[in-house]
Amino acid sequence: MNIVIFGPPGAGKGTQSNLIVKKFKLHQLSTGALLRKEIEVKSNLGNQISSIISLGNLVSDEIVGNLIEKYVSNKIYKSRLIFDGYPRNLAQAKYLDKLLKKNDQKINIVLKLSVSLKTIKKRISERKILEKRTDDNEEVAIKRFVAYENNIKPVIDFYKQSNLLKVVNGEATISEISDEISALIKGNKGWL
Ligand code: AP5
Ligand code: MG
Repeated sequence: MNIVIFGPPGAGKGTQSNLIVKKFKLHQLSTGALLRKEIEVKSNLGNQISSIISLGNLVSDEIVGNLIEKYVSNKIYKSRLIFDGYPRNLAQAKYLDKLLKKNDQKINIVLKLSVSLKTIKKRISERKILEKRTDDNEEVAIKRFVAYENNIKPVIDFYKQSNLLKVVNGEATISEISDEISALIKGNKGWL
């Protein structure tokens, strides 16, 4: 079972991935978290991308593609991945498909968490106090939202075509959303 979860900043991708990982013994692959880790350890890659992330822009497809390739090709994670925040554009969606095929895997479910900009602003301003993310201020959150809106439409169409897309109301409570996602996973034949 491989799952893709996407949605705008603050939609709850990380929160829900965390819960799915625990319930279904999958492995969370958050490209955002991996990139922040590179910045934290001040690797060459981290230095290259630090300002891109702080400004709320997308890093290159090549950089994130290399990051996910390591996980998809690693047998430990075979058909046990939840992609949190990847893909974010059509090129990434196509690359992921190709990479999975090459490694004899596929995507079973694509979850789209829908939330309003008003909710995003509220959640990000609250998280800002707890986590010190350089991209968690209102101005950059709006830029991240715009980057999402500008790129995601073809990704939605791509997954609609293959009948994988499930839209989940991200405005509900964390546990309501988690219950809905769990039911979708249990109802998928990839889980049986
Ligand atoms: P990333 O780290 O993925 O950031 P994001 O997409 O902006 O999303 P967030 O992590 O902010 O939100 P989330 O949906 O995970 O919500 P969370 O669960 O934390 O990416 C960061 C950057 O990396 C990008 O801007 C880009 O530069 C780069 N990047 C990453 N992937 C890339 C890619 N594929 N290509 C190119 N560049 C890429 O929840 C938010 C808050 O709300 C939390 O405090 C949580 O407790 C709370 N909350 C969650 N759910 C609920 C709920 N139902 N009710 C109330 N509160 C809730
Ligand atoms: Mg996240």
